Amino acid sequence: MCGIVGYIGHRDAYPIIIKGLQRLEYRGYDSAGVALFDGDDIHLAKTKGKVDDLKKKSESTISLMGKLGIGHTRWATHGAPNDINSHPHYSNSGELVIIHNGIIENYDSIKTELTKRGYVFHSDTDTEVLVNLIEEVKKKENVKLGKAVQIALNQVVGAYAIAVFDRQKPDEIVVAKLGSPLAIGIGENEYFIASDASPFIEFTSNAIYLEDEEMAIIRVGKEIKLRKIKDDSIAYPNILELQLNLEQIEKGGYEHFMLKEIYEQPRAILDTYRGRLLSQQGLIKMAGIDQNLEKFQNANRIIIVACGTSWHAGLVAEYIFEDLARIPVEVEYASEFRYRNPVITDKDVLIAISQSGETADTLAAIKLAKEKGAFVFGVCNVVGSSIARETDAGAYTHAGPEIGVASTKAFTTQITVLMLIALKLAMKKGIFSQSKFHEFLTELENIPSKVEQTLKQDKLVKEIAAVYKDSPNCLYLGRGYNFPVALEGALKLKEISYIHAEGYPAAEMKHGPIALIDEQMPVIVIAPKKGHYEKLISNIQEIKSRKGKIIAVVTEGDTSIRELADHVIGIPDTLESLTPLLTTIPLQLLSYHIAVMRGCNVDQPRNLAKSVTVE
Ligand code: F6R
Repeated sequence: MCGIVGYIGHRDAYPIIIKGLQRLEYRGYDSAGVALFDGDDIHLAKTKGKVDDLKKKSESTISLMGKLGIGHTRWATHGAPNDINSHPHYSNSGELVIIHNGIIENYDSIKTELTKRGYVFHSDTDTEVLVNLIEEVKKKENVKLGKAVQIALNQVVGAYAIAVFDRQKPDEIVVAKLGSPLAIGIGENEYFIASDASPFIEFTSNAIYLEDEEMAIIRVGKEIKLRKIKDDSIAYPNILELQLNLEQIEKGGYEHFMLKEIYEQPRAILDTYRGRLLSQQGLIKMAGIDQNLEKFQNANRIIIVACGTSWHAGLVAEYIFEDLARIPVEVEYASEFRYRNPVITDKDVLIAISQSGETADTLAAIKLAKEKGAFVFGVCNVVGSSIARETDAGAYTHAGPEIGVASTKAFTTQITVLMLIALKLAMKKGIFSQSKFHEFLTELENIPSKVEQTLKQDKLVKEIAAVYKDSPNCLYLGRGYNFPVALEGALKLKEISYIHAEGYPAAEMKHGPIALIDEQMPVIVIAPKKGHYEKLISNIQEIKSRKGKIIAVVTEGDTSIRELADHVIGIPDTLESLTPLLTTIPLQLLSYHIAVMRGCNVDQPRNLAKSVTVE
């Protein structure tokens, strides 16, 4: 939540900041701001609205001069989204300027103290409190900016990634991190700061990801100094070579990132198993699992924690692990798990799933499980993210940057990684014969082309979208492996089109939701010719006899459901446990087209943010 970006060096900061904010806009987009420093004057513009609104405002109202700049795109926590609450924030003297991603939980008591000392606050934000606390420390202790930031941060409770500069120091930016991500790009005599590496990828591929409780003093022409916030001791930077490229973070001719990311799934799934699935050798190689195989084999149970779409991938994994590897699995919302005093032992393996690797609740659940002795394994997409670093071991999904706020390729690649792990364990535990193992590997290798085939249904899905785009409600039903897909389909629709949707296990329908069915109600039934197919047909009959409109996702060539349903979308045949990788595709397309037809902002749906770094 919130994106921060900064630059200090020999170039004009403004275009770098604006472009960087546009790339980070997925992190929050209710207001934006920029501050530029030309060595004499600070030029600051901020506004409610998008980065484009900020661009218009800044280009018509302020000087765009300055080789030092910071910018912010906001997802409001404290204070409504408006011009005043937007970042950057000045300190009272006008000497310090700050941007902040996170929450200062004890801001109220600090504010009261500062108010007593004569500070005046113009906004409702916790950030303005923080910048004034830094100012107060700087004055009272008579210290430089870096030291003042360090002392002030030791007085705050909460999460932050901040960048702050001082009018007295035109060649310096101080940054610090706890709980929110912060990357520093290192160029030739220039530095970039950002919530992720996308704002600076065309300038440098060398970056440092600050660890929690680290801060850095960044000066042009000098090496970066890293310090521990707690005790001011020196920290040593780990400079990484980034694998990102520009093409990955641009729309590449698609109208929206979401559509691009839906269409990227064949490639993304392939990248997920590339180099891991060695079918010729009848092997799955995954370093994070290979090195910890015993932990998994001897586990009493696997606990999966995640939020949102990643939680749905966890539910699919529950079916996969129990069915194939015969390991008991519990799937928990990270936000519930962390606060419900769960029973965890050192015989448990906890798998945390997160696209961004920054979700605050998931991170907290990991810390709790580690404290109680569990082995914690991460499944993340963003390389070097907080969750990737906090876990004992893990496997990246290698989906590439996911920028559309609604998760698509993250879901299918998470399932792919979890499937690889389950297959490996099934083999190791002697549950699978070599030939069964081989059958799974071969079919997994067929999935990218089957996703490709499924994507060819796009035109049909768009026609169906046109019929139901104005429905106020929608029901999604599935059974077994496809029950979580029903939940995911409903989530996709509600988050980007604002249509109320519910996902249910199909048989649960008669315990309540059936009351909602009438001729106005579209019911999306995920019904591949597998597992509980016959039972699903009965469920479809029940909907039909109540005049509900049936949109069925079926195995190609299915004639029985075609006779009953109003619309059918065919997917290629595959193994039952792999069907979620195909059935989910038409549901992503359906919500995408409905949202576009309703004029919604598909990539940046209202009130949402891509990475939820607050609990
Ligand atoms: C839904 C969506 C969210 C995320 C959730 C977890 O489309 O994007 O529900 O899945 O916020 O995020 P990660 O996976 O980054 O932990």
